Amino acid sequence: MKGIILAGGKGTRLYPMTQVISKQLLPLYDKPMIYYPLSVLMLAGIKDILVISTPSDLGHYRKLLGDGSRLGLAISYAEQAEPKGLAEAFIIGEEFIGNDDVCLILGDNVFYGQDLTAKLREAMALIKNDSDVNAVIFGYPVKNPQEFGVVEFDSEKNVVSLEEKPTDPKSNYVVPGLYFYSNSVVNVSKTLTPSKRGELEITAVNNVYLQEGSLKVKLFGRGFAWLDTGTPHGMLKAAEFIETVQSRQGFYVSCPEEIAWRRGFITKEQMLALGEELKMTDYGQYLLSLGE
Ligand code: G1P
Repeated sequence: MKGIILAGGKGTRLYPMTQVISKQLLPLYDKPMIYYPLSVLMLAGIKDILVISTPSDLGHYRKLLGDGSRLGLAISYAEQAEPKGLAEAFIIGEEFIGNDDVCLILGDNVFYGQDLTAKLREAMALIKNDSDVNAVIFGYPVKNPQEFGVVEFDSEKNVVSLEEKPTDPKSNYVVPGLYFYSNSVVNVSKTLTPSKRGELEITAVNNVYLQEGSLKVKLFGRGFAWLDTGTPHGMLKAAEFIETVQSRQGFYVSCPEEIAWRRGFITKEQMLALGEELKMTDYGQYLLSLGE
């Protein structure tokens, strides 16, 4: 399975912070925001990754992540000239996706919780092994559902509807920015027409699969954290959460170098060499301490 990180957009809700730099490069506590979704793809075992961003920001991502080989990954890059929607990622990424299945994650989404890796594996296995399933998305309860894609269930927890930012949400379960699809998503995305806000909506993609009966929604429960980084307040709260977990446990949240080593993408020596380069920071010292 291939992975796409969509790190485009203008980030207007974070102006002036994002007037000259892509939102997903801003720090969340001690690392660039994009490290968090990158870590999720790595936890899923996905090594072939496309980063999509604006023409003016792409160079920064290249500088930060390179070709990915330092992390045992293959990272490539593509432009999204205008914010024309999440589903455009599959059209931009058509060649990259080739004949594979694909996971899309938004560059500003933070996921944290004990059963994350298991959930990722389950989603991937469904897409890979069950020919009746073409899309696996997630549901998560929030207090402000009207700001997201909202999923409605019947009494047996079957999905009844999916709506993008409804003024009158039918439930408080929303769809986080993490989506698994079979290869068919490329063609599905090409059939879409832009929404009122001028975007190819991911919710429209999911509705195609819902109608077809091939969409599964997995739930993240109350013990799980899916954090919002869309506003200065959300960024601060996410940073505080990350700092709290890290300083309490001593384990880092979303440290790609550590994950690359623990998943066997790179050797311990390679991980330690990356730590050595950053040894002037707590981050680097953390990597070095993993070798002990
Ligand atoms: C997008 C999706 C929405 C989803 C959200 C998750 O919203 O359209 O369905 O719930 O990401 O972060 P946007 O960021 O485009 O407003």
